[in-house]
Order: sequence, then structure tokens, then C-alpha cells
Amino acid sequence: MTLRARIYGLLDPSGQSDAARQVRALEIFLNLIGIASVSVGTLDSLTPNAREVAAIVTGVVATAFFFAYALRGWVAPENPLFQDDSPARARIRWMLSAGGLIDLLAVVPALATVSGGARLGADSASIFVLLWVLKLANHAPGVGLIARVFHNERSALGAAAALFAIVLFSAATIAHWLEEAKQPEQFGSIPAALWWTVVTLTTTGYGDVVPLTPAGRLLGGLVMLCGIAVLALLAGILATGFAAEVRRGEFVRTWDLVARVPFFSEIGAIAIADIVERLHSRSYPAGAMVIRKGAAGDSMYFIVLGTVEVKLASGMRTLGMGDFFGEMALLDRKPRSADVFTASPCTLLVLNVADFYQLAGQQPTLIAAIEAEAKRRRENDSGAN
Ligand code: CMP
Repeated sequence: MTLRARIYGLLDPSGQSDAARQVRALEIFLNLIGIASVSVGTLDSLTPNAREVAAIVTGVVATAFFFAYALRGWVAPENPLFQDDSPARARIRWMLSAGGLIDLLAVVPALATVSGGARLGADSASIFVLLWVLKLANHAPGVGLIARVFHNERSALGAAAALFAIVLFSAATIAHWLEEAKQPEQFGSIPAALWWTVVTLTTTGYGDVVPLTPAGRLLGGLVMLCGIAVLALLAGILATGFAAEVRRGEFVRTWDLVARVPFFSEIGAIAIADIVERLHSRSYPAGAMVIRKGAAGDSMYFIVLGTVEVKLASGMRTLGMGDFFGEMALLDRKPRSADVFTASPCTLLVLNVADFYQLAGQQPTLIAAIEAEAKRRRENDSGAN
């Protein structure tokens, strides 16, 4: 592997190696230190020495980001997305990508310092905070999720925003009619009345402007109620959007795992979709007890990765990738017949008892195959005893 490929592996934002994670953690740490040093530098009460230290720390962080940017540009041709491009084109494409532009913004402070030939003053340096917060957001895995939720729910959010605007402008206009005579400064025009309406509609309620006429107060009450309704609507849209997006992500991950279990390979896509909805993946370290003999059966398991040992009176049975276990207690409605523990780190798909019985009604062939295997195991166990 070339040095460039190795450095790409370290700097790749989606890299899963320990070293890549450590580089990411270091970058986040530097980011936080940078934000803290710039923020502290704006304190009036700081001694000249402390201000100097904060400026030096800011400079070090900015320089580190500058080198990271240069390195990322150099290794860009290693990015699989740009594999068909010449090195120069790959670098330009990376520089114009969202990640590249955010990294470029983060090095602006370093460039400004160098081109300025001197350290920037604390006030002008405070712009770094905004740029570095943006870079920090680039590291947060949830940011993509939030962006997808806003994108998916854009029409519902647009409708709620339109509702907000309708209430806002209607209320500001009526408040202007009702209050203008008593408070010409605060309600003399619709734009002036908008301040009170926004503060009331968002239920912020600074209290700096209040309606004085009885009709104005009645309007205030209505605007508050509308504000609560609009905010609840927005919260509901975002909450369901988040839940749907998280479910979609889980569905795709589970689908991927189900595809690896040979037992499911003969089932059609629609049936698989039905099963995927009901399965949840769970990871276990080696030596973990998954099923305890005599316990009530609440779920069965499919092995995606790793091996488990079934501890029977006649000896141990090893089950591996694609096998399942925990079905007997569900089929016989009896306590667990044996201890089952992981022999290596395992990824299992879990089907809980309620879903098992629902699936039995909808996918009879699948359950028949599970029953046939359980029967074979029972015979095996009673033969061995
Ligand atoms: P259950 O009884 O729910 O919990 C223990 C599990 O061990 C049982 O379901 C089966 O899935 C599994 N098991 C029992 N006997 C055997 C066997 N002979 N071979 C493989 N697995 C078994």
C-alpha cells in the first residue's frame, strides 16, 4: 500500500479502523480546543498573558487544520468516488465537495493569519468560532439524519411554516388596528406590530410590548393558543420524520443482515420485507449467555455472524452463521430446553414471540421449515438421552 493510500485511510471520514477513529477524535478535540480558545480570547477581563496564550492556541489549531486540508487534498485521488479521474481532477472535485468546502472554510483563519502577517485581534478571530463549529458539525453523524428528515418532511414543514406566516401577518394586522391609537410607537405600523406578534406566537413572551386594549388582549390570548398549536404541529412533524428515518435506516441494516442468512434466501422480496420489519439485530461478545435453560421463551434468534454453543445433556452442539435457535420454547410453549451461549462475538437477528406467532399466520412455509428443524432436534435430543 502506498503512503498516500495509507494516509487516505487515516483521514477518510468514514474510515472504521482504530487509527482512523483516533485521527477523527484528535480532529474533534482540536476543534473544541480551537472554539474554546477563540471564545475565551473575546473575554474583556482576560490578562494580556492569558490572551497571548489563547491566541497561540488558536494559531496552533488553525495551522493543524491547514495541514490537514493540504493532506486531504493530496490524498483525494485515493477516494473511490474519484477513481476514474486524473489526480488533479480528483483534487478539484474534492475541493468542491461539501466536505472539502467546509474544510476550506476551517483553514480560512490560518490563511488570514498568514496573509495578514500578524495575529488577528480577538474580535476578528471570533469568526473562527462559526467556521469551526461548522467543521465540528461535519463530524456529527446525526447531522446527515437531520438534513434527511428536513428534506423528507419539506412539504409538511412548508405547510406548517405557511400556517405560521398566515397567523403571524393576520395577527400583526389586527393588533395594528386595535392598538395603534394607544401605542403608536409599538403598533403604529404592521412591521412594528410584527415584533409583538412574533414574540407572542412563538410563546417567548419578553413582555417588552403588551396589548393594552381589551380586544388587543383577547387577540393576544388567541395568538398564544395558535402559537402552541403551530409549535406542537412542528414538533409532531419532526418527531414522526425522525422516527420514520431511523426506522428506514434500521430496515436497511436488517435487510442487509437477513440477506446473509441462507435460511431466508428462498423467500420472495415481499415476504422478506415482512420479516425484516419484525427482526432486530443484536450484538453479543464471546461467552455471553443468550438463553438460560428453564427460562420463559420470549424470542428466537438467527445467527448472522459468529457461533453459539447449545449445552445439552448429551454434550455441546455448535450452531453457526445461518442457523437459528430458541424456536422450541415458542413452538412448544414450554420453558427453554437448554443453555445457549456465544462461542465468539455474534450478531443475531431477534424475532420476539408476538411477531413469531403473527409470522406463523402469514408465512406458513417459513414456520414449517422451523418446525421441521425443531422436530429433528427433538428427536436428536431424545435419541441421545
Ligand atoms: P429453546 O428450547 O427455546 O432454547 C434452547 C434452544 O437450544 C432450543 O430452543 C433450540 O433452539 C436449541 N437446541 C435444542 N436442542 C438442540 C439440538 N439438538 N441441536 C441444536 N440446537 C438445539
